[in-house]
Amino acid sequence: MLLLSLLSACAPGGAASPGEDAPTWHADIAPIVQERCGSCHVAGGVAPFALDGYDAAAPMASSMVAAVEAGTMPPWGAETTAECAPRFGFKDDPRLSDDEKALLRAWADAGAPEGDPATAAVLPAPVELDLVDPTVVVAPDASFVASGTSDEFRCFSIDPGLSSAAWLTGLQVVPGNPEVVHHVLVFADPAGQGASLVGEDGSYDCFGGSGLSEGGALLGAWAPGAFPFEAPEGTGIALQAGSLIVMQIHYHPAGQVAEPDTTAVQLRLTETAPAREAVLALLGNASSASDGLEAGVNDRGDTAEFRIPADVPDHVESIAYTIPRRDGPYQVFSAGTHMHYVGTDMLVQVEHAAPEGDEPATECLVQTPRWDFNWQRAYAYDAPLDEVPVIRGGDTLRLRCTYDNTVANPGVRTALEDAGRDAPSDVYLGESTLDEMCLGVFGIVL
Ligand code: HEC
Repeated sequence: MLLLSLLSACAPGGAASPGEDAPTWHADIAPIVQERCGSCHVAGGVAPFALDGYDAAAPMASSMVAAVEAGTMPPWGAETTAECAPRFGFKDDPRLSDDEKALLRAWADAGAPEGDPATAAVLPAPVELDLVDPTVVVAPDASFVASGTSDEFRCFSIDPGLSSAAWLTGLQVVPGNPEVVHHVLVFADPAGQGASLVGEDGSYDCFGGSGLSEGGALLGAWAPGAFPFEAPEGTGIALQAGSLIVMQIHYHPAGQVAEPDTTAVQLRLTETAPAREAVLALLGNASSASDGLEAGVNDRGDTAEFRIPADVPDHVESIAYTIPRRDGPYQVFSAGTHMHYVGTDMLVQVEHAAPEGDEPATECLVQTPRWDFNWQRAYAYDAPLDEVPVIRGGDTLRLRCTYDNTVANPGVRTALEDAGRDAPSDVYLGESTLDEMCLGVFGIVL
């Protein structure tokens, strides 16, 4: 025994080698990458390169560490900051733990050793993103071909066949061509307007919303890798008999003519009324100015205006909305933020008029401090419904949106390019690419 260990200590490249205890691809890294990166970094996936084996991942080791440590990968916007520490974690949070980050760094620092395939760790099952037990899967009649280099926003009208009123308890979007489908919003269309808006190609142009003048309640928001929407246990979103749905797809073509896309929506519907009604409520400034816009330093004149001046890197719009005394209480099971290309940071807080239990007087619901239009989503609290944040009559919701309307903002460069313009101009409230919004998306139970 002693002899053996002495021998190995003296062997060339033996105990002195720095890589000896380093993590290896097969033993340590492959399971992390499969679980945290695998839903997008596969052949035909939304990411521009695959990380589906040692040969693909090893040359990327240091970029992988850089992206993970910078927090840009996996894409996820909700962060804890000095201003915002939500009381609960979020469901389906894909971010790496500190231990996983340390392993990834140690592996890259050791030169990305492969290790022994014979003693490889068992890989986790591929991430399952389908909705459990959908009752109907619907898709537009016509497929869509995205091409070129400009992003396109198309709305499709779909008939889910609701002969009577129903309740939606779950929803998932299944992209037809993951290489071009960048994000999807699904809306209720109770008056069936969408059907008359579609053109010959089976879709119509829309940005930021459904393009409907009536109804248009949000049913779901999807980005690549997103888990299905699940209404909390015992709740559902009400849908009127005869409602159509509108699906808005943000196409992000990669410069070539892509394979046709037919994106489907999985729905779980029930005709039995749940105990309580859930709603995805939008609050803030959308297509028309709402109550509560506060005066800001860049306003002209005495009244508050929603205007993001050209060439200002840190413009702020703030909205405060006090819930009428007779309304609520509402349990908030998810919170999301929505701006367009000029936005950089959004903070959503509630001021409790009379805090209860361990509720702070000012409670942060969500902050997305590195806002990225491409990766917007709702963040659901990882907590039982009877513990999630509550908004009551008399409470004040505060939204703070920060914008960088200069060419240093990559979002502004994208929007200018799409609009064929070369310099920023003042940005106002509206639904097109070079308009802005400041909108909170709240999953609430009535
Ligand atoms: C939800 C889909 C998705 C997941 C999950 C994901 N990526 Fe990405 N990744 C992308 C896309 C799309 C791009 C292209 C750039 C962009 O659109 O942001 C990208 C780009 C990258 C890049 C290029 C540099 C950069 O930061 O843009 C690296 C490196 C990277 N990913 C590493 C990873 C690693 C490591 C993981 C897992 C820990 C991961 N990604 C998880 C979608 C994803």
